[in-house]
Amino acid sequence: MLTIQNLHAGYGSVSVLQDINLEIRPSEILAIVGANGAGKSTLVRAICGLLKTGSGEVRFRDKEITHMPAHLRARAGLAVVLENRRLWGELSVKDNLRLARSVGEKRNSTSTNPYSMNDLYDLFPVLHQRESSLVELLSGGEQQMVAIARALLLQPDLLIMDEPSAGLSPLMVKNTLSVIQNLKSKGMSMLLVEQNVAAIADVADRGYVINLGRLVHEVPQGGWSGFLTNESLFKAYFGG
Ligand SMILES: Nc1ncnc2c1ncn2[C@@H]1O[C@H](COP(=O)(O)OP(=O)(O)O)[C@@H](O)[C@H]1O
Ligand SMILES: [Mg+2]
Repeated sequence: MLTIQNLHAGYGSVSVLQDINLEIRPSEILAIVGANGAGKSTLVRAICGLLKTGSGEVRFRDKEITHMPAHLRARAGLAVVLENRRLWGELSVKDNLRLARSVGEKRNSTSTNPYSMNDLYDLFPVLHQRESSLVELLSGGEQQMVAIARALLLQPDLLIMDEPSAGLSPLMVKNTLSVIQNLKSKGMSMLLVEQNVAAIADVADRGYVINLGRLVHEVPQGGWSGFLTNESLFKAYFGG
């Protein structure tokens, strides 16, 4: 679905990502975990085209997209929920979703089962109740739901989420994880980037630890509990 080879990226003369290699297979949830400042959001920005990369290659559905602008990547089927969620705060929930739907309708999705507004309201009933509310007046958890709903209305083949648990109450984290589980059961491919390893250990298939811009440790399928209980390994990358 997505392949990254020898990717380097940074900000001006400051290099952040060093020789990133990874693959996300169809219907797989890959997690990248790391402490604050490790390079997680930089990697997300590089993948979705918001940050120019140095050397290396990014391929999506067998096509090279390394230098493709962000809006064309979205149209090619790569949707992202960014760290700050980037919603249209002065528009209602419904208008945010309608705008995303109109973009989604323009792409030739490979999905045989595209998401409709009603599917999203089934997934997030509270958004149906609040469809006329301005997004800027919603709680953080509700805004997160709008961001995920909007990403899904782009009818993506790969959904990327930057710290889906950040700033949410434990209950909202649980809700978000059950939505992720639900999408997984429908075969959505996902890249989850998280500082909170425990939050995604139950849903992620495989993963990597990122530290100082490098993927330094691989967590294989079924390896999350071992990683979480390996104190020295955990401390090395997350402190504490
Ligand atoms: N816009 C920027 N300009 C310069 N350096 C940045 C910028 N954004 C992030 N960085 C630096 O890049 C490194 C990785 O940051 P980031 O990818 O945001 O980490 P994470 O998402 O894992 O917390 C940090 O050292 C951070 O200070
Ligand atoms: Mg970040």
